Amino acid sequence: MTQSIQTLLDEIDRILTHGVRSEYATELLLGKEGLLRRAYHQLKSLPQTERRNLGKALHEREARAKNLLGSIPTVIQKDTEALYFDPTFPGGASPIGHRHPVGIIINEIVSFFTKMNFQVREGTEIETAEYNFDLLNIPPAHPAREAHDTIWINRQKGTLLRTHTSPMQIRVMAKSKPPLRVIVPGRVYRYEAEDATHASVFHQVEGFVVQQGTTVANLKWTLHAALESIFGRDIELRFRPSYFPFTQPSLEIDLACIHCEGKGCTICKQTGWLEILGAGMIHPQVLKNVGYNPARVSGFAFGVGIERLAMIKYKITDIRSFLTPDRFVIDQFPGVLQ
Ligand code: DAH
Repeated sequence: MTQSIQTLLDEIDRILTHGVRSEYATELLLGKEGLLRRAYHQLKSLPQTERRNLGKALHEREARAKNLLGSIPTVIQKDTEALYFDPTFPGGASPIGHRHPVGIIINEIVSFFTKMNFQVREGTEIETAEYNFDLLNIPPAHPAREAHDTIWINRQKGTLLRTHTSPMQIRVMAKSKPPLRVIVPGRVYRYEAEDATHASVFHQVEGFVVQQGTTVANLKWTLHAALESIFGRDIELRFRPSYFPFTQPSLEIDLACIHCEGKGCTICKQTGWLEILGAGMIHPQVLKNVGYNPARVSGFAFGVGIERLAMIKYKITDIRSFLTPDRFVIDQFPGVLQ
């Protein structure tokens, strides 16, 4: 790459005036392939008349650079990983980090629900089959158990890594009396063959409200308001009947695609809708399991996958991106660098 001698001079002046990260300064200015060497090289191809003045300018910069950098050896070890460190040279600014997209969405959810007077609980990632399944109305032979590919810790003892955040419904309800408003953000685990849309570790937020007179209307309003707050815009939802063992009735909720306004695009696979969460009215059997009287109190519950929301909001196409420690991957997510 040949740069004009003027560009090289400007760069040299900039470094001499402002300094650069110390470990690079010497090599950059005086090194074998440094800016001064390159400028001298360019000089050779200039006409005599221009050569004199520019040559003088370069000599002057070289003297200043040597003076500034003192006795630091000009040729630094070839191994660039072991660059010379000059503790007296002014340091460069370190880039500050930013939140992970999953953290941003969790914070947005927590912020919305705490304003609505929900308490935030986390629970433990190691659970028992009793809480993860039985008390949620998923008995051992129930086919729904097969849908949760479980990572068992000890199958005989019934210990496992929670496959969803729903067991916290049981844990919280069993220890407190209604009225209750709770959200549970947390990590969950599934025994999955990983691909672009399946990870064996991901995040969910469970939410539930139990009090006298709670209805599906409360559920619909709450989810609509929460999702508008997360996506930062007006949204349209579609509620479809579904099945979960721990809710009755159960609903699956779709969001009108926020990227094509429901017209059909690659994000919504041309359907105009994005499936985003499961919800329902807490099953009377589940209320009984925690000692509540379903004739007196009712509740709604929902569970949402955080990575799914982040993928939709930030147009991320591969769920595995969330798990990579590579900042080049994380940094490219648009709109999350605050
Ligand atoms: N626990 C469900 C899952 O992980 C999600 C879910 C569906 C949670 C409906 C709920 C609910 O609270 O009401 O697949």
